[in-house]
Amino acid sequence: MMENSFSVMSQRLKSSIIRELLRDTGVVSLISFGGGAPDPETFDREALAEISKEVILKEYIFALQYGPTEGDPILKDEYIKVLKERNGIDNLKHENILITTGSQQALDLMGRIFLDTDSYVIVGHPVYLGAISAFRAYGPKFIPVEIEEDGFNVNQIEEEIKRLDQKGELKKLKFIYAVPNFDNPSGVTLSLEKRKALADLAIKYNTLIVEDDPYGELRYEGERISSIYKIAEGHNVVLLNTLSKVMSPGLRIGLIVGEPKLVSKTALAKQGVDLCTPGLTQRIAARYLQKGTIFERINETVKIYRSKKNKMLNALDKYVKINGAKWTKPDGGLFIWLELPKKFDTMEMFEEAKKAGVAYIPGAAFYVDDRKSSEMRLSFCLPSEDEIEEGIKRIGHLLDTYR
Ligand SMILES: Cc1ncc(COP(=O)(O)O)c(C=O)c1O
Repeated sequence: MMENSFSVMSQRLKSSIIRELLRDTGVVSLISFGGGAPDPETFDREALAEISKEVILKEYIFALQYGPTEGDPILKDEYIKVLKERNGIDNLKHENILITTGSQQALDLMGRIFLDTDSYVIVGHPVYLGAISAFRAYGPKFIPVEIEEDGFNVNQIEEEIKRLDQKGELKKLKFIYAVPNFDNPSGVTLSLEKRKALADLAIKYNTLIVEDDPYGELRYEGERISSIYKIAEGHNVVLLNTLSKVMSPGLRIGLIVGEPKLVSKTALAKQGVDLCTPGLTQRIAARYLQKGTIFERINETVKIYRSKKNKMLNALDKYVKINGAKWTKPDGGLFIWLELPKKFDTMEMFEEAKKAGVAYIPGAAFYVDDRKSSEMRLSFCLPSEDEIEEGIKRIGHLLDTYR
C-alpha cells in the first residue's frame, strides 16, 4: 500500500489518546477511572432480551431489513414523547428528527455538513475528545473558550465572535459546541443564565449551537435546567441525544433534533456513511421505550451512580491532601475533574500510576493545543465502591510521593 495515497482527511486523523493510554495495561489489579462506559449492571438485560426476541420473530420485516435513513418512525414517535415529557420540547414532528448510530455519528455528521478547512468551531476548554476527533477530520480551526464553575465563559465567546466579525470572518464560524449538562470531562453544568445568553448570542450573530446532551437524565442533585434548544425554541440550535448512557451504548442509538432543512441535509450525509442506523436496535429501543419503565430504571441507575460519585468525593477528601488541589462536585453525569498544582504533570505521572494499579485520563487529552496539564478526569461509573476507595487511595499515595 502506498502511504502517500492516503487522503488529506485521513492524515488529520489521530488515534484516541484515551484508547492508547488504556490499551492492555498488563496490570491485573488495575483500577481504572479511565473510560466513560456505563456500569453494565444498569442495562435492563432481561427486558431487552425478551423484546429482542419478539422484535426479531414478529417484526422481522422492518427490523431485519434496510430502513429509512431518517430512522424508525416508531422510535421517532417514542422519542417525541420523551422529549416533550422530560424536556418540555413541544411540537416536534418526524421531520425534526434524524436517528443516528450513536451521538458520535451525529457529531461526525455535523462536521460533514458544516465544516471546511477554513471554518471555525468554538469549543470549551477542556472539551470532549470524541467531538474534537469527529470535527478534526474536516480540518476546521478550533477556538477554545474557558470553562468556569458554571460553564462557558460566555463573555469570552462574544469577544471571539466580535473578533471574527472584525476580520470579516463571522460567516466562517460554523457552530459553538456545548455539553451543558455535567460536561465531559469537567463535570460542570452550564447555568440557566448562561444558556439564555448563549441562545441570544446565536440569534444575535446568526450562528448555530450544537447542544450535545448524553447525560441530562443522569442528575443526582439539584433541579433540572432547560435545554438551550428549549430556551431558544429550536432557533439556531441543534440538539443531540443518545440512549447510550441510559439504556445501552451497544444499541448505538442517538438522534439529532433540529430544523427540517438541517435534518434532511444531515440525512443526505448519513446515506453515504451507513444508509441507516440498524433497524433491529432501533425497533428494540422503540418497543423498550413503549414499555414505559425506562424512567423507573433510570431512577435506579441514578441511585447507583450518586452513591459512587459520593464515594469518590469522600475518598478524594480523605486521600488527596495536596495543598491547592481541587476537584469538581458534579450534579450528575459520570466524571470528576481533579486539578492539581502546576508542578504535577498528569501525563508524565500516568505510567507510574499504572504501575501503582490505578488509571485515569490525563487532562492534556482534553485540550486542542499541545499543553501540559496538571489535571485528570476521573470516571466513577464503572468501578465498584470498594475499588473507588482503593483507587483514590492509590492516587493519593502517588501524589504524596511525586517528585
Ligand atoms: C459528550 C459526549 N458526546 C457524545 C458521546 C458519544 O456517545 P454515543 O455515541 O455512545 O451516543 C459521548 C460518549 O461518551 C459523550 O461523552
